[in-house]
Amino acid sequence: MRQPPEVEELMLLDEGPAKQVYLEAQAVLQDLYRSCRLGSNRLAVEDVKEAVAEFIGRMREKQDVFLQMAMLKDVDPYSAKHSLNVTLLATYLGSRLKLPEKELMVLGVGAMLHDIGKLEIPGEIIGKPGRLTPEEFEVVKSHPQAGYRRLEGLVSEEIRLVVRDHHERCDGSGYPRGLVKEEISLAARCVAVADVYDAVTTDRCYRPRLLPHEGMELLMVESTRGALDLELVKTFLQEIASYPLGTIVRLTSGEIARVVAQEPAVPLRPIVEVLRPKERAGEIIRLLTHPSILIQEIVA
Ligand SMILES: [Fe+2]
Repeated sequence: MRQPPEVEELMLLDEGPAKQVYLEAQAVLQDLYRSCRLGSNRLAVEDVKEAVAEFIGRMREKQDVFLQMAMLKDVDPYSAKHSLNVTLLATYLGSRLKLPEKELMVLGVGAMLHDIGKLEIPGEIIGKPGRLTPEEFEVVKSHPQAGYRRLEGLVSEEIRLVVRDHHERCDGSGYPRGLVKEEISLAARCVAVADVYDAVTTDRCYRPRLLPHEGMELLMVESTRGALDLELVKTFLQEIASYPLGTIVRLTSGEIARVVAQEPAVPLRPIVEVLRPKERAGEIIRLLTHPSILIQEIVA
């Protein structure tokens, strides 16, 4: 998405090496998708594993930049970018849950590959501008199983199960098998939370994206009704600051501001520094004590 020049000028992301890792991982996924589309039997899953290991290393070094990368939204929710965002969010959630390295790798590689089965669905359905008919939705619902089949012999069974079960829901309302919580691996449940969150906070052609705090509310509703794992959603809510440091937002009061600090108890109401209007640049607003000022949109 092209930003207006005044916003581009303000995109002062601490990019450097973290952005490099992100772009490299995106290239790895794009290559993988391309070879899948061409029907190649030799998928570069080793490169995916390497990219995930890099992510995990980077996450330990610089958590803010790591999460901020996941906020850089694309217009196409089925692109490699969606898979990368889900990977960033899910592995971060896994690290907060203190999963051992081996399980984090299963989670990360599973997240990277979770939608690979979508490549077997006709483009006119996947790219359809507008809501799907019930028949088309049935076709889309075949993607977890298609991905599971596609990865046979290429990755471990644990990783394949993350791919197969990422649309299963704790109350049995998911697909393809209608499993319940105890039958779904923790890694698949983590990917489900990250996938739902990233999907609803990304623009679709038939509806605009939700803001992070609205996405969080939706996760709470989904977990309260039993579909998503309540404990995981709580951790996600507490640990994943919805507006990572450095995010540039537009406030309902008109200012453009940058998130400069979090309120640990209320991650959805960060402390921001005004960037525009220029005359007020540098002014600090603590959103927690200004309940009437809301974040209207993320501009960068
Ligand atoms: Fe999916």
